[in-house]
Amino acid sequence: MTKNKMWGGRFGGAPAEIMEEINASIAYDQRLFAQDIAGSRAHCQMLAATGILSDDDAQTILQGLDQIEQEIERGKFKFSRELEDIHMNIEHRLHELIGPAAGRLHTARSRNDQVATDFKLYVREAIDQIVAQLDELLAALVEKAEAHADAIMPGFTHLQTAQPVTFGHHCLAYVEMFARDKSRFLDARARLNESPLGAAALAGTSFPIDREMTARALGFDRPTRNSLDSVSDRDFALETMAAAAISAVHLSRLAEEIVIWSSKGFEFVALSDSFTTGSSIMPQKRNPDAAELIRAKAGRIIGGLNTLLIVMKGLPLAYSKDMQEDKEAVFDVLDNFSLALVAMTGMIGDMVPRREQMRAHAGAGFSTATDLADWLVRVLGLPFREAHHVTGEIVAMAEQAGRELSELSLEQMQKVEPRITEDVFSVLSVENSVASRTSFGGTAPENVRKMAQHWRKKLAQS
Ligand code: ARG
Repeated sequence: MTKNKMWGGRFGGAPAEIMEEINASIAYDQRLFAQDIAGSRAHCQMLAATGILSDDDAQTILQGLDQIEQEIERGKFKFSRELEDIHMNIEHRLHELIGPAAGRLHTARSRNDQVATDFKLYVREAIDQIVAQLDELLAALVEKAEAHADAIMPGFTHLQTAQPVTFGHHCLAYVEMFARDKSRFLDARARLNESPLGAAALAGTSFPIDREMTARALGFDRPTRNSLDSVSDRDFALETMAAAAISAVHLSRLAEEIVIWSSKGFEFVALSDSFTTGSSIMPQKRNPDAAELIRAKAGRIIGGLNTLLIVMKGLPLAYSKDMQEDKEAVFDVLDNFSLALVAMTGMIGDMVPRREQMRAHAGAGFSTATDLADWLVRVLGLPFREAHHVTGEIVAMAEQAGRELSELSLEQMQKVEPRITEDVFSVLSVENSVASRTSFGGTAPENVRKMAQHWRKKLAQS
């Protein structure tokens, strides 16, 4: 028996222990077993259909693959680091099970097109799962938006009170973001869905294979058009991770708002026991750990995208072993993104907005100053710049007096602008302020209700 388990023909000696350690990917690519077996089945059936492989051999191989799949699913399969990766582990076991016919499966195929195929299948399944999870998150947000379409809260810019908005409108802002994220994943899926199988090592093959057939069998739209590109590119993984990174940024921003909203200074929302933790020393505490961890996951996910971008950037065509480093980054990104998504959905579902508390904050900080300026423009015909100035003086006066705008008297306001009438009070309340914002995309409760309905219908269709 040769000392080298994998490359017996060419190699007299075994790899150094450290070579085996740096080279082996089986510890993590065993995750690809189902995709690897699916790819092998499709390849084997195609080899038989094209007469490259006898029907008998094909049958034997397919039975062997079935058995291996069961062994792995039942935890009975012994993965070996010496055999490097999932492809060689399965092929080796096939040989043990069915003998020399196993050696015919690799005709007209290389591990390079094999791994690209497996990995695409894996990423495609992950995208499908993520899209379903994004739908759940969208539904949870739309539900909150509808229930609180008229709950008034302060809208911020620079985290300073700007203008009153509604909680429902705020929820729907995230619906827009996550819906775009979903479409990014679907775009990535559409571009990914071409089969690299049959590109072989890098140049294609001299065997009369049928790439259309394997593509169809594996649910791909068509075979890839260039063998070099097929084995050397990982942009499908990059694009999927980029979609995850962008969406993770959205998750992180929402998580940050939840951290702020649930803090003592705000108390805009109450979080459930299920998504918070206590402190080991301070009995009064309820910490928004899930939100904080979601916020942190974004860093890790962006890091994973960066990892693969940097791995890929200097590689000449076609395959280089560097590309084996794609998997851990992708698995880590997809696992953690999916976890963060599901946790966020749970947290949103449980979250209870404190409407009075939000309403009280919404009126503070002269949040209707813009409404006052708009009134001066609309009713008195002042140019907006002048109205802005007059309002500024009235705000300064209110600040001096320690009052809100609606608490000033008409006489006080008339000292700044004598033409102001009683009617001005109709725009100084936060209720009137939000109700007046009926421009398309604005925060008026009636808009929010309509928009929430639009999303509910859309989600029901998807
Ligand atoms: N385990 C390898 C990977 O993940 C499979 C491809 C190996 N190909 C090669 N030519 N060494 O990339």
